[in-house]
Amino acid sequence: MDGRMSLVEHWHDTYQKRPPTRVTWYRAHLETSLALLQSLELPLSSAIVDVGAGASTLIDDLLDQGFSKVTAVDLSASALAVIERRLGARGEGVRWCAQDVCDVSFEPGSIDLWHDRAAFHFQVEEADKARYRAALHSALRPGGYAIVSTFAPDGPQRCSGLPTERYTGPQLAEALGLTLVEAVLHVHDTPAGNHQRFMTALMTRP
Ligand SMILES: C[S@@+](CC[C@H](N)C(=O)[O-])C[C@H]1O[C@@H](n2cnc3c(N)ncnc32)[C@H](O)[C@@H]1O
Repeated sequence: MDGRMSLVEHWHDTYQKRPPTRVTWYRAHLETSLALLQSLELPLSSAIVDVGAGASTLIDDLLDQGFSKVTAVDLSASALAVIERRLGARGEGVRWCAQDVCDVSFEPGSIDLWHDRAAFHFQVEEADKARYRAALHSALRPGGYAIVSTFAPDGPQRCSGLPTERYTGPQLAEALGLTLVEAVLHVHDTPAGNHQRFMTALMTRP
């Protein structure tokens, strides 16, 4: 990233340069997240937030399953606009937050499931990790769940030109102050055919 560019500009630029299906993290569906979510058998009235939603299809899949209290957060308004356009009228009930997740005003303890695929791992400074952890702990109700995907210990050290952190399940649960339920290691094939090792953790807030 150019030193003069803000993170918002960086992500806006990223989504302007390529169609959403050509970014390295593109998947038609977030199968690992969906499988973990399904295992929870959450009521359809659950409040779910997708942190760093980008242009991904998780929001579409949640609405298809009948969840209606859904929030999409991303630094890039242009990425969220891709989802909004795709959903059309179906997306009318979605809360769209084009901002840093740490600045979103969630009602304290109002979120039942916090989802993040490949956003938290860009927090490499301790102060930024602490801000994210505080935002998560304020929003997530005690006993609520978090499904967070990061690069695995043998995954990439950078993504989209930015440095990333790599985690095991126990390391991520410790970093976020949550209790680990299950960690899944998996490989993501990028549109260019490269393989990236990911770790997805299902955690709960004590
Ligand atoms: C690698 S992309 C993943 C997008 C999506 N989760 C997916 O799986 O396709 C990371 C996304 O996180 C967003 N992001 C990074 N840091 C963020 C933050 N602090 N708050 C909100 N969004 C953030 C970026 O704008 C980007 O869209």
